[in-house]
Amino acid sequence: MKDLFLKKPYVAIRKSSRHLLVLVCVLMLSVPALSGCTSQSAARPSDKIKVGVTIYDQYDTFLSQYMECFTKELEADEDVDVVVYNASQSQQTQNSQVKKMIEDGCDVICVNLVDRTDPSTVIDAAKKADVPIIFFNRELVEGDIGRWNRLFYVGADAAQSGILEGELAASTCLSDKSIDRNGDGKIQYIVLEGEAGHQDAIVRTEYSVDTLIKKGVEVDKLGYAIANWNRAQAQTKVTSFIENYGDGIELIMSNNDDMALGAIDAYEAAGILKSDWPAIFGIDGTSVGLEAVRDDKMTGTVYNDKEGQAQAMYRLAVTIARGGSIEELSDEFEITDGKYIRLSYEKITATNINKYLSR
Ligand code: BGC
Ligand code: CA
Repeated sequence: MKDLFLKKPYVAIRKSSRHLLVLVCVLMLSVPALSGCTSQSAARPSDKIKVGVTIYDQYDTFLSQYMECFTKELEADEDVDVVVYNASQSQQTQNSQVKKMIEDGCDVICVNLVDRTDPSTVIDAAKKADVPIIFFNRELVEGDIGRWNRLFYVGADAAQSGILEGELAASTCLSDKSIDRNGDGKIQYIVLEGEAGHQDAIVRTEYSVDTLIKKGVEVDKLGYAIANWNRAQAQTKVTSFIENYGDGIELIMSNNDDMALGAIDAYEAAGILKSDWPAIFGIDGTSVGLEAVRDDKMTGTVYNDKEGQAQAMYRLAVTIARGGSIEELSDEFEITDGKYIRLSYEKITATNINKYLSR
């Protein structure tokens, strides 16, 4: 999958011959003049559509699995070519990629913004060339999406994920008295937060803690740490929490699975017995996250429906690229304000894990 995300030149994916084609493109990177990918898409028949994608960081676990789902959607469709770029966490790089995709004749471009507060260059370029944009996963503000009627967003409702995580944590704390290890009637907790400024980080933190309290759990906040969605950063932060609080941490709520896994890594590296770990919750249900729930290391997670979001993005991309409207999808997806498609989150615990493991 990694090979799909290249800064330049791009990679074209074509259904049945996808793997072969990707391999060919990768091998041709050092001789771009010979690249079969570029010339092939330029010569495409007029009814064939070309979809461009740029993601903020190819190493993000959730997004790389999302892109796998997206490319699977394409396997069934012979009439679509796709190019995928990795923006490597640079908005400037992403701006250039969008311009290049416009020049290369993309009919629609899917943008996972690096900086969700800075979509102006992307919007201006797309508007000028009349190429519609589907933003996904990293939500731009309403004022920006309202700047043109061919801007859309595919994602999920961040508040819902926080509420579901808070409900999972509350029901564990209320039903299992051993979580309150020091027996003081309060749950000592920490929160692991994603990127500062990301809608999912801000909103998940707020709603998960509020929900826990509303459900009647008495809490005592030990601290929070920003770990940028990242497993290794979370491990470092949790290692220092363990140094400060020892077994005094009773609950860890993480904004995503990768950081929850970093917390698990920290407990394992410290040699602490599983029976002495806090309850740990994540959000995403990535394959590694699901395995941690199955293995009883993570108490629960919240499913961020990558299959549903990838399918919605694919359906919307091909519909608008062929001149259709988002409303044509109203039987398949819930559409808000003629611009947004949001998929629902779901709670995952040991009791329903098998359903997700087999997806
Ligand atoms: C996911 C995170 C991911 C982030 C990237 C969030 O919705 O839960 O795992 O790192 O999106 O934007
Ligand atoms: Ca306690």
